Amino acid sequence: MTNRNITQQARLKLGAIGAATLLALAACGGGDSTLAPPVSMPFKTLNSTQPIVVGHRGASGVLPEHTIEAYARAIDMGADFVEPDLVATKDGVLIARHEPNITSTTNVASLPQFASRRTTKKVDGVDETGWFASDFTLAEIKTLGAVITDAERPKQFDGLYKIPTLQEIIDLVKARRTATSRDIGIYPETKHPTFHRQLGLGLEDRLISSINAASWNSRTAPVFVQSFEPGSLKEMRAKGLNTRMVQLIDADDYDLKTGKLTYAAPYDRPYDWTVSGDTRLFSAMVTPAGLAEIKTYADGIGPWKPYILPIRATLDAAGNIVDRNGDGKRDYNDASAQSPTTLIDDAHKAGLLVHAYTFRNEQRRLTFELNKDPVAEYLPYYRLGLDGLFSDFPDTAIAARSTYLKELNR
Ligand code: G3P
Ligand code: CA
Repeated sequence: MTNRNITQQARLKLGAIGAATLLALAACGGGDSTLAPPVSMPFKTLNSTQPIVVGHRGASGVLPEHTIEAYARAIDMGADFVEPDLVATKDGVLIARHEPNITSTTNVASLPQFASRRTTKKVDGVDETGWFASDFTLAEIKTLGAVITDAERPKQFDGLYKIPTLQEIIDLVKARRTATSRDIGIYPETKHPTFHRQLGLGLEDRLISSINAASWNSRTAPVFVQSFEPGSLKEMRAKGLNTRMVQLIDADDYDLKTGKLTYAAPYDRPYDWTVSGDTRLFSAMVTPAGLAEIKTYADGIGPWKPYILPIRATLDAAGNIVDRNGDGKRDYNDASAQSPTTLIDDAHKAGLLVHAYTFRNEQRRLTFELNKDPVAEYLPYYRLGLDGLFSDFPDTAIAARSTYLKELNR
């Protein structure tokens, strides 16, 4: 880390004082090109540092998400941060799951001893039926096995790995920091904070306690705390959380015919806005006024990636999507990323980092112009100055970042 920074500083200094001279020499054939050090180009990120790669739910593209094994794999792949989504158990322990409803991410439905726990709860205004972490003690949770959620991904590890606590994830990251001397961090998210508060299992105090216990409650700690609910972030700031924080920005879907994002409950606005009667949509957050408001309590935004590169299909005379790849379907694979919005620049002007989600390798998730190459998807985002991104396949994100660094002569 230190050596790399020194090298970068030296190159930047050289770039500032000598780039024009070197370019002029190269252009007219003057000088000995073998002696000329490469002139590195600056990063366009907010802090002029390289973009970070966050292992989204660990290396969730290849192992069951939110397991110690998936986080360790993400770190081995080179991720700078690992991302635990946090929910609470019945006895108030923070564990890593994407949803309070653990039906699709564990083998709980196959265990007869827990059959009677199947129930229906309202999550963010929507009835969900299944098994919920808040009805299980940590000891019971530890009897479950995690499963991979995407049918396209490897299933052979299903049921083998346990559900980790936040503390176990912190312990893993600290051990790997020591073992590798890399600046690895955690990027925890409070999941459905209003739901948990209504159950008397508020996530915020528990997360702050864990971060305090890790001696990581500072701006320079290897920690970003994220949430879709502004109230959760504001509460933690008010209660003394000093880490960097990121406001997530969602939408329901996109309309391939118009290239516009669409908004439908429960993904139309933060659920705490719904509860408080604030009728704005997530889209309000990406306006200059919205960004300025976020800057009052957070350090960055975490937008869904089409907020940066809208996705749009080509339409025929009848207004139908053109089957550009000729596979007989008219879908995402036929659409293309459009010209970028001004969101990254606007956020940077507001002093906010931008960490976009979520990058995935599968062919069905790649637009036409990428020509089935997942690495290619990352490059325009890096070139725009994106400060970081969440990837289910951190090795792909790192490979793309290496390509980008070469472009910058770094
Ligand atoms: O936290 C960034 C990204 O993960 C948000 O989407 O649904 O995976 O929590 P989700
Ligand atoms: Ca097609």
